[in-house]
Amino acid sequence: MLDDFLILLGRFHPLFVHLPIGFIILGILVELNKKKLGWSNEALKFIFFWASVTGVFSIITGFLQYQNGGYLWETIQFHFIAGVLTTILSFTFYLKLIENSIFKLIPRKLFIIANSVILIITGHLGGNITHGEEHLIEPINNLVGVGEKETLTFNYYEDFKEKPLYSTVIQPIIDQKCVKCHNSKKSNGKLKMHNSKELMKGGKNGSIINYDTPEMSEMYIRIHLPKEEKKHMPPKSGKQLTRQEISLISKWIKNGSSFEKSVIDFKLEENLIDYFFDTEKPFFPLIKVSAPDNESIEKIRKNKILINPINKNSNFLKVSIINNLDFKNEDISLLSDIAKNIVSLDLSNSMITDSIFSKLKFFTNLTVLKLNNTTITGEKINQLIELKNLKRIYLVNTNFKDEYINILAEFTNIQKVYLYNEKDNFLNLDRYSKFDNKIYEFGNYSLEN
Ligand code: HEC
Repeated sequence: MLDDFLILLGRFHPLFVHLPIGFIILGILVELNKKKLGWSNEALKFIFFWASVTGVFSIITGFLQYQNGGYLWETIQFHFIAGVLTTILSFTFYLKLIENSIFKLIPRKLFIIANSVILIITGHLGGNITHGEEHLIEPINNLVGVGEKETLTFNYYEDFKEKPLYSTVIQPIIDQKCVKCHNSKKSNGKLKMHNSKELMKGGKNGSIINYDTPEMSEMYIRIHLPKEEKKHMPPKSGKQLTRQEISLISKWIKNGSSFEKSVIDFKLEENLIDYFFDTEKPFFPLIKVSAPDNESIEKIRKNKILINPINKNSNFLKVSIINNLDFKNEDISLLSDIAKNIVSLDLSNSMITDSIFSKLKFFTNLTVLKLNNTTITGEKINQLIELKNLKRIYLVNTNFKDEYINILAEFTNIQKVYLYNEKDNFLNLDRYSKFDNKIYEFGNYSLEN
């Protein structure tokens, strides 16, 4: 009962700290404007008295959160010390204001400067604990453009099979379902799991892997306990392991918890191999692009070009000229500012010709390209081979010549080319459908919306 109350109190720490912050900032402002405000000394006494009281409460709640939240002392120590200093400073300034003789000689300015500095330090260190050290740096990096890193993922069993099961499957599961509470900053049960070295070290009861009797491993037991059981992991309030994930971890433990053994060595059952196909390759590129700027978007929209994000969390765009069928080759320059953002481009029914390809090759993230009902013949379409993400090309009812069809099969990631043609201009159609009918669609399909 008391324990729960103390845990609750601790969780209020992030909220509570804003009280002394508010008082101190108000105090600093009053002090800086003391000429304007005739009543400042009385007000300041009041303000710094309460800054001290709420400061003490913040220290207590912070300490409770440290004790009950699974934080390591190394993680929080500087924040803690800075917090205590902040409170001491507020209180000594209060003592000076009520004319305590010890602090008489120290200039007021010094208090104000020290108070400002230490407040910023405490707040920043606290923020790092709650939000992670990247919290501030990340958006700054993104702003100046150094944060754009490419994330590569494996997605199919074939890509995985020579890699260690541990690093490709087990650690990622642990990262998703366990590391939240078992990491270098917060290690519940003194257990860290964010890398293999830490996992090996085990928790407060020693190793969590038992190499002699794998089924007796603490990690194995905990994930198999009934959900209601207090020791069940992850705790029942959190996101649970799926049955497949439990099987994969179990298999890994039972076969010796090796960090090197490759996927294929584990001889996974059919249903576990499925796991590798569940995370289907994302259709659009996995890189992050910076948001398009609103001015460019507005300018383009003025030309009756439709622009929409592919989903609400994405900077990738779908663009269509459906409302502007007079669109010509040179109009493509309208889109150059947002070229990297465009993953889907529909130029169907427009006035474009084969010269468009020399411009389109700069749309590096282009994944879907629709050129239906145009006079495209396919000459120079080889320039699009540079578009490593291009997966679908729509060339329905164009003048596409069969001599260019083979080129399309050489595109790195091409999945489908829609070539259905009422004009029947593919003389050697048989040849192509035999050649690779997996990517070419010559008919019998429904058009995508
Ligand atoms: C919501 C937080 C949370 C998550 C998520 C979580 N744990 Fe824990 N874990 C705890 C807490 C709290 C303890 C300490 C209390 C206890 O021993 O039950 C603990 C203890 C453990 C221990 C015992 C360590 C020891 O030496 O006593 C193991 C093993 C463990 N967790 C494994 C896991 C695994 C595996 C996952 C992911 C599938 C996981 N935990 C996810 C909170 C969590």
